[in-house]
Amino acid sequence: MSVAIIQGASGSLGFALARHILRNTGLKVYALTHRPSNTEADLSEKLLEDLSDRDRKGKGKDSLTVVGDVDLKDEEGLSKAARMVKEREGVDTVRLVACMAGILHPEKSLSAIDLSKSIDQFRINTLGHLLTYKHFVPLIPSKKKFESISSGSDWSEYDGEDPARGLINPKNSLCWSMSARVGSISDNNRGGWYSYRASKAATNQIIRTLDHELVVNKNSSAIAVGYHPGTVITSFTKPVIGEHATPDPDKGRFDIDQAIEKMTGVMSQVKRDDPKKWEGRCWDWKGERIEW
Ligand SMILES: NC(=O)c1ccc[n+]([C@@H]2O[C@H](COP(=O)([O-])OP(=O)(O)OC[C@H]3O[C@@H](n4cnc5c(N)ncnc54)[C@H](OP(=O)(O)O)[C@@H]3O)[C@@H](O)[C@H]2O)c1
Repeated sequence: MSVAIIQGASGSLGFALARHILRNTGLKVYALTHRPSNTEADLSEKLLEDLSDRDRKGKGKDSLTVVGDVDLKDEEGLSKAARMVKEREGVDTVRLVACMAGILHPEKSLSAIDLSKSIDQFRINTLGHLLTYKHFVPLIPSKKKFESISSGSDWSEYDGEDPARGLINPKNSLCWSMSARVGSISDNNRGGWYSYRASKAATNQIIRTLDHELVVNKNSSAIAVGYHPGTVITSFTKPVIGEHATPDPDKGRFDIDQAIEKMTGVMSQVKRDDPKKWEGRCWDWKGERIEW
């Protein structure tokens, strides 16, 4: 009950989320990257940077496994990573599956459409998330297991404390997909970015469908949601907003630390049977629902 899977962990937001979890929770992080396995040690070192020696020994090292060669265009990497988690941690262990990977080829008009780039966006932004859930949702604790650990014995297996330490509601696990406001069809007032918009709209559909499966399968403790982080100044957005863009939180533009603070703040509020009805929906950094 103590594992967080971060897919896209070498990217700006994936990396920052993994660091946040290592520093602020007792969850074990499996950081999945499509970079080759010979870069695992390097990414691991960077994720643990600034952790004191004591913290590294106490939790950092044990708490982090970087898994390279997880290319979302190829199911084999995900399947291997899931087998590794199952063998090492067992089933009934995953509290968070965070799908952070995404690419953007911003087409301004039809003439800019390039079939292979369009397909890549669907393979990574949409089907890559779907396949990640295919392989990791089976490792999420069943409702029964969850209830027996979290309420019955009051997290006694975990020193009496939920290892998620408030990042995730103690009553559930979470399937979390990076979506985007531009994936909303009703919000599309400007056009452009055909493939990226469509890939994110399709990701929203996957989240909704996944959440239905999680509900129908009464055995699951999980909730599925999509998330829009605002405009975050990362290598992803710089080609669009410019090299010298600066944060302006009032306008929804953030640096990475601000974005992670907002994101984890929203994550911690998500629960089933809440008046807000979080499940199967897409949310923004204010915790406001984005209509389809
Ligand atoms: N930044 C924003 O303002 C913003 C706004 C709305 C939504 N989002 C969404 O938030 C997510 C993270 O964005 P970001 O700003 O952190 O972007 P980023 O820094 O470019 O990170 C994207 C991640 O996707 C990974 N990736 C690319 N191709 C892959 C593949 N074939 N297999 C596996 N992983 C692959 C990248 O790995 P490598 O680093 O190894 O290439 C990287 O880890 C994306 O889904 C994006 O659509 C971002």
